[in-house]
Amino acid sequence: MPPATPRKARPATPHTGAGTDVTLPRVTMNMAMTADGKIATASGGLSSFGSPRDHQELLRLRSLADGIMAGARTVDQQPVTMGSGSEKFRRARVRAGRSPEPLRIIVSGSGSLNPEAEVFKNRFSPIIVLTSGNVPDRRRKMLQAVADDVRSFGTSQIDFRAALCWLRSAHGIRDLLCEGGGELNDALFAAGLVDELHITVCPFIFGGRKSPTIAEGAGVPRLALARNFKLQSIRRVGLEHFLVYGKD
Ligand SMILES: NC(=O)c1ccc[n+]([C@@H]2O[C@H](COP(=O)([O-])OP(=O)(O)OC[C@H]3O[C@@H](n4cnc5c(N)ncnc54)[C@H](OP(=O)(O)O)[C@@H]3O)[C@@H](O)[C@H]2O)c1
Repeated sequence: MPPATPRKARPATPHTGAGTDVTLPRVTMNMAMTADGKIATASGGLSSFGSPRDHQELLRLRSLADGIMAGARTVDQQPVTMGSGSEKFRRARVRAGRSPEPLRIIVSGSGSLNPEAEVFKNRFSPIIVLTSGNVPDRRRKMLQAVADDVRSFGTSQIDFRAALCWLRSAHGIRDLLCEGGGELNDALFAAGLVDELHITVCPFIFGGRKSPTIAEGAGVPRLALARNFKLQSIRRVGLEHFLVYGKD
């Protein structure tokens, strides 16, 4: 998708988490959803349903990010590589002072991530697995054998604020792109860490109570607790609508 409005320059000053003194990456989230709000079918078998334009937009957003983050099921249910996509985007990254390929960050709180996932067979950039403290030793060792680093933040649940702070200080991640799925997204929303949300609305209805949506988890019990975002732009290209929301 061509950008609806010229993309704002990234802030020159570090992005600072509201009400804290930690320095965090700026987090952009990008998701494709059906007209009924689903990001995959119930089985997870069909989750790539955007047009080629949508795919180009995904690669464009990746080219603006130092790191790409995804949840364990997004990574091990499909043969994803989380790469820049092509020489054109690699060159754009280098021109902007970034590494040719993004750092890849996979979230797997209990370490259930499949060590044989396709992503581990593509060694073009480092892969970091973020876990909580309660990963069995055996699983941790299996992941350590395939990832470049396995890091724990938090005890029973991942402390995402601490994890993002570490990504910024240890790996220089200023711009982080989160590519789902719904469970990971929900945790980032809940922690108030999402700065910008890109949604491609695709002209399909999947239905299904168990089909995942953009934000899973427990959900909020009342409107007052909803996370607020402001619509910044909307653009129709072909049969799809490209929406950009910013933090309210
Ligand atoms: N349409 C789209 O744009 C799009 C984008 C991405 C994904 N998808 C689809 O969405 C589906 C996956 O979404 P999903 O919500 O089921 O899974 P997900 O968020 O990709 O992955 C869930 C797993 O990630 C780890 N995780 C996520 N949040 C965590 C947290 N707060 N703390 C600790 N660990 C956390 C957990 O791993 P452990 O089990 O190891 O603890 C959890 O089981 C797939 O079908 C995928 O293809 C669609």
